[in-house]
Amino acid sequence: MTSEIEDSAEVVIIGAGAAGLFSALTLAPKRVIVLSKEPLGGICASAWAQGGIAAAVGEKDTIISHVSDTIKAAAGTADTEVVDVLINEAPRYVKILEKYGVRFDRDNTGTFRLSREACHTCRRVLRAAAGDGFGHELMRALTEAVKKTPSILFKEGITAEKIIRSNGTDKGSVQGVLGRQTKENKPMIFTAPAVILATGGIGNLYTVTTNPPSAIGRGIAMAARAGAQLSDLEFVQFHPTALDTNENPAPLATESLRGEGAHLLNGLGEKFMPKYHKMAEMAPRDVVSRAIFAQLQKSQKVFLDCRHIDVTHFPAFLKTCARAGLDPEHDLVPVVLAAHYHMGGVATDLKGRTSVPGLWACGEVAATGLHGANRIASNSLMEVIVMGGRAAADIQNTGKPTPKKVKINIKALPTLPQTCVPQPEENTLRHIMTDMAGIVRHKQDMIKALRHIISIEQKAEGVNSQLADRALVSRMIVISALHRTESRGGHYRADYPKPVKSWQKRSFVTLKEINTLTYCALTPNAKKGNFA
Ligand code: SIN
Repeated sequence: MTSEIEDSAEVVIIGAGAAGLFSALTLAPKRVIVLSKEPLGGICASAWAQGGIAAAVGEKDTIISHVSDTIKAAAGTADTEVVDVLINEAPRYVKILEKYGVRFDRDNTGTFRLSREACHTCRRVLRAAAGDGFGHELMRALTEAVKKTPSILFKEGITAEKIIRSNGTDKGSVQGVLGRQTKENKPMIFTAPAVILATGGIGNLYTVTTNPPSAIGRGIAMAARAGAQLSDLEFVQFHPTALDTNENPAPLATESLRGEGAHLLNGLGEKFMPKYHKMAEMAPRDVVSRAIFAQLQKSQKVFLDCRHIDVTHFPAFLKTCARAGLDPEHDLVPVVLAAHYHMGGVATDLKGRTSVPGLWACGEVAATGLHGANRIASNSLMEVIVMGGRAAADIQNTGKPTPKKVKINIKALPTLPQTCVPQPEENTLRHIMTDMAGIVRHKQDMIKALRHIISIEQKAEGVNSQLADRALVSRMIVISALHRTESRGGHYRADYPKPVKSWQKRSFVTLKEINTLTYCALTPNAKKGNFA
């Protein structure tokens, strides 16, 4: 399918969640195109966030304590410089969000109402909408601000598929994005000397997730194909308490419920968390998730017991429970593990720069090193906003050439695969990832998974872009998980159940290296591949 230039701008942003919209607003009055499959204010993971945004703004809180909690939970691989910078800047960005119209919950004296979530040693999570509706309130305010900003051109119904680099090589600088107008299956080129990836996470690679259907890692796939360095792909976070009420995606029972004292009970009615960790329900998320996994294996069901706490501050939770005919003041609420957050992604520095000149990334698609192997609640929205702001500021400061100077050789561009419509193999891939590369992993299972994934990937490549990207990202996660022969944070190997000192580091990899490692994994006598 041949493509034509549709529009040009100073910056193209891919994705319209909080990261995309906040960076677009920060770039004003630069001419910015935001590409999104959804309409402005449509479905995105940011809008579904219940907890809130973490920042040390409480009277008794300190930056040092927020930094220390983040590093402790990260299981030894957080980048301490990144943690320090982002957490120091978070309170300033809270004020910026207020300027954009975000209405945080406050008490009668005007003091922020704060929630507590796991591993935060004090109440630190700013909330909105009378409790657990921060994501909606954030997206409402950003959407309204975007509508009032004429320099932002919002293009809905577009799926971004390829990052264009000059000369069609993986050496040239970024020139724009090759996308597809989804309804008419029409390729379109958007040119710009700077592109920001803000495409969100990967939860939908698994069968049960709290993420929207679009969360299949297409930003990671695009960056990988453009030659970018990726990081920490093996670290996938499963939320311990998604509601087990047959909704898909699974709605959250926010961790702040446990912060208020809700307990986890197994099918025998026993509180089991104290056996696993001294912080019990407030233990790091990976610990709680694995404990629930073990319980589910034994007694089939796990419940959240909220009967003794005040649930009136959780209107979103109450609404979801009501849909399933549950009243948490009297009923136990069945919960299930759900793929929730990817600590890995496209490697960036503190300015949001990837290793590809002209390509920035922010939000869940990026891996800054803030979360290490295990993210603590509500640090992600903080990272979205701070890094969205920093990436935009960096682009403002780089004085990139004007869009007119971007000259694309259309003939040298790769053609888009014929289609991107969902295929039955997507479900097969989801089951493979859940059963063989989910919360507990083992070499033998992952090798099996790899063979299945590759056969799907080979059929999809050049034919169906969505399936090909889904398979590619699944393969990259499996390869990264196979390579890390230890257990740490969101990566647990039954065959290597302990952390290993020599692995106390982040992983960095390119698609070329992934391909070599894939060959090595399937060819027993091949020399071992190396991660940086
Ligand atoms: C929650 O509220 O439990 C989720 C918050 C998060 O994952 O940051």
